[in-house]
Amino acid sequence: MKVLVLSSSPRREGNSWALAQSLAKGAEEAGHTIDFVHLDDFVEAPLGDCRGCRLSDRSCGIADGYERLLFDHVLPADAIVYATPLHWYGMTGRLKSFFDRLFCYTSGSSPHTGEVVPGLMNKRAAVVISCEESYRGATAGLEAQFQELTRYLRQDLTGVVVGIGNSRGEVARDPARPLEAAADLGRRLGDAHVTDYRLDTDRPNRVWGPPVEA
Ligand SMILES: Cc1cc2nc3c(=O)[nH]c(=O)nc-3n(C[C@H](O)[C@H](O)[C@H](O)COP(=O)(O)O)c2cc1C
Repeated sequence: MKVLVLSSSPRREGNSWALAQSLAKGAEEAGHTIDFVHLDDFVEAPLGDCRGCRLSDRSCGIADGYERLLFDHVLPADAIVYATPLHWYGMTGRLKSFFDRLFCYTSGSSPHTGEVVPGLMNKRAAVVISCEESYRGATAGLEAQFQELTRYLRQDLTGVVVGIGNSRGEVARDPARPLEAAADLGRRLGDAHVTDYRLDTDRPNRVWGPPVEA
């Protein structure tokens, strides 16, 4: 698989970057290729009012690297890793702008809809979050948001790793060992088994198959 890592912290080589690097290393060990990008190299502006910035062919007129990111990196990827520090109990503004601006390429009025909509779907996805506060509620809203937006995009959310730390690189000292969890998720990214049942889902009574004989 081609794995795209979208690193969204304004702080280079910080905690969410470290988590993303570990995940990428695990994915590489499993034979996947990694494309690691910093969002701030591409996304400079937030979503605008399309009536003001759309070009005459109805394509997006915001002149930064967003379109290059979308067509050269996002669409060709088989899996996307979203890496973000917790900012105000949510994702970074830059990552939110990345999602907001998908609208300019997926809405019915865009000339790119036919290519971009199918190109965004049916990918594996993973999320890594770094933050200072360790109580579960701190990241609960953001984890729910990723659950919903990946469901909407028809991407399979294979896992979320949260690492606790504040100063640069401190996440390595989190006793829960999130760097190891991230590497493990990277190794399993291609085949992580996500169970999502409805009342009438036809299913066996074991999640992991028959027990392995000793
Ligand atoms: C603008 C801003 C807002 C933040 N908001 C929160 C927050 O709501 N909760 C939290 O636990 N940490 C918060 N933090 C701390 C960062 O999430 C934490 O330092 C994280 O490890 C930074 O990751 P990075 O090195 O990848 O940027 C905030 C930091 C900044 C700069």
